[in-house]
Amino acid sequence: MKALVLAGGRGTRLRPITHTSAKQLVPVANKPVLFYGLEAIRAAGIREVGIVVSDPREMLVKDPRTGEQVTVMVNSQAEIRAAVGDGSAFGLQVTYIEQEAPLGLAHAVKISADYMRDEPFVMYLGDNLIKDGITHFVREFQQEEPDAQILLAHVKTPSEFGVAELDGDRVVRLEEKPALPKSDLALVGVYLFDSCVFEAVNAIQPSRRGELEITDAIQHLIQSGRRVRSHVITGWWKDTGKVEDLLEANRIVLADLQTEIHGTVDAESRCEGPVRIGPGATVERSRLRGPLVIGAGARIADAYVGPFTAIADGVVLDRCEIEHSIVLERSRIVNVPRRIESSLIGRDAVVTASDAMPRAHRLMLGDSSRVELS
Ligand code: DAU
Repeated sequence: MKALVLAGGRGTRLRPITHTSAKQLVPVANKPVLFYGLEAIRAAGIREVGIVVSDPREMLVKDPRTGEQVTVMVNSQAEIRAAVGDGSAFGLQVTYIEQEAPLGLAHAVKISADYMRDEPFVMYLGDNLIKDGITHFVREFQQEEPDAQILLAHVKTPSEFGVAELDGDRVVRLEEKPALPKSDLALVGVYLFDSCVFEAVNAIQPSRRGELEITDAIQHLIQSGRRVRSHVITGWWKDTGKVEDLLEANRIVLADLQTEIHGTVDAESRCEGPVRIGPGATVERSRLRGPLVIGAGARIADAYVGPFTAIADGVVLDRCEIEHSIVLERSRIVNVPRRIESSLIGRDAVVTASDAMPRAHRLMLGDSSRVELS
């Protein structure tokens, strides 16, 4: 059995972070989302993994929020290749499969036919996080040998996902992002297929949004009388494509954190709850209330870092308060009087207050940034 991991596409809903970085590499609890998937694949006993990537380029697409045409960057494969390499760090043999443009999940399957060589495979969307891993589903697929197996989860906003209609545990119909969903059962981004999926991806036509949808390919399998099993998962799952979901994923992963202190915490600082501090990090005159993680070489002084916060390597927090947030590498938050919360701050960003007159907000924000001032 092989795996196919999708790490192409574009991160429209996580801009501006994804102007410069692939959405699958945005960290949750200081580890890229994609790594959780690769570890889950390895834990399920799979070694050979094809990762679908694309070249960075600008593309005109319809903004799902406003309906307007906007320019987006397609993810950079160089960054994914640099982070994952040949896969040996994960105990995997990784082969990169280049997709010329994000033409849909079924298109990604189509271009992987040569790599799969008729073997069954698990397809894993690189921005999905399943807390309990996939081992159980892989075993189930191997034992039952259906033509395809999908995972479903009850969600509050089914129209944002592929949606399944069931009759008992039989899948009757699947629809991609329907305006009027027939159920609250969303397709989770982990699918198991045998080689008959290649017939299906070749038979379907692009959807209204111009993509070859894997949902339509599975619907085609159902209509051709193939055996499609479904499994409703009860454990926690998230598609981390939006900032709110990313922060929730961060909260769920950090909830299981164990204390591990490799940096230095001075006598005037107080730590409560589980706290992980990386090598070379320093904490002075500060209050840390876990669960939280602080990366290597970070400097925390006269600050409060509250629960469910992930501070990446080399970040500086000085005279500020922050909680329930993710701060990426080398950013500096200095002398900010109000507490920062529920925020995602990119790399090398600077957030600071100034006493210079006139007292005003002075901003230099990247395209598609979002700031809430109060
Ligand atoms: O997360 C679950 C949902 O994932 C399912 O419920 C939907 O049925 C399924 O279509 C998919 O919806 P999204 O709109 O969230 O898919 P997205 O465009 O975000 O792509 C998912 C991953 O696949 C992401 O890591 C980018 C990658 N990708 C995407 C496309 C369209 C590719 O590698 N190539 C592509 O052509």
